[in-house]
Amino acid sequence: METYKVFDWKFFFHNEQEKNKYITELKGYINNNYSELHDQPGAIRYNLDNAIHGGYFDLFLLNPHLNDFLLNYFKSTSVFIKFLRYRNPLHLAGEQELHFDWIVKDGEIRMEMFVLLDDMDLYNGGLVIMQNEKLKPIEAEAGSCILMDSSILHGGSKNKNGKSRALIDIHIGVTPEVNEQCLKRIKLK
Ligand SMILES: [Fe+2]
Repeated sequence: METYKVFDWKFFFHNEQEKNKYITELKGYINNNYSELHDQPGAIRYNLDNAIHGGYFDLFLLNPHLNDFLLNYFKSTSVFIKFLRYRNPLHLAGEQELHFDWIVKDGEIRMEMFVLLDDMDLYNGGLVIMQNEKLKPIEAEAGSCILMDSSILHGGSKNKNGKSRALIDIHIGVTPEVNEQCLKRIKLK
């Protein structure tokens, strides 16, 4: 099943000022506390895994409501943050081959959440996903989150205009039952 859902920033923040404050603080925190990975020539990447404690990232760093949102959304405490990366494609680079981030093994299933730290569109390296055998570009504003089934074929596109398109990619491990409920709920309209 191929599903995703975009949660607008207004879902998480009361107003633009609050949103901008958190995003600015988070970008500063990442720059000051992490060193670059240099594992992809076309993008700036940080591994944020050591911000995960007991399966949970300090989600308040991302926004004050995301932690509650995730727990409520999945209706379960058996939701664990498995993997955290920051990614920002460089100008005229960053295009990724379409890929799956996670192949189900040992019964473990993952959902993937992208937390946008900048507006994302067709021109600054936005995410594209395969939907009904067609490539679909995703556009959303900074502060929004995209929740996606990890088995969706997807990739970052080329950053054509050089504008920053930072996001945090969160892999969320869930049980098969939770995954099933979740897939039903994020089914495309
Ligand atoms: Fe990916």
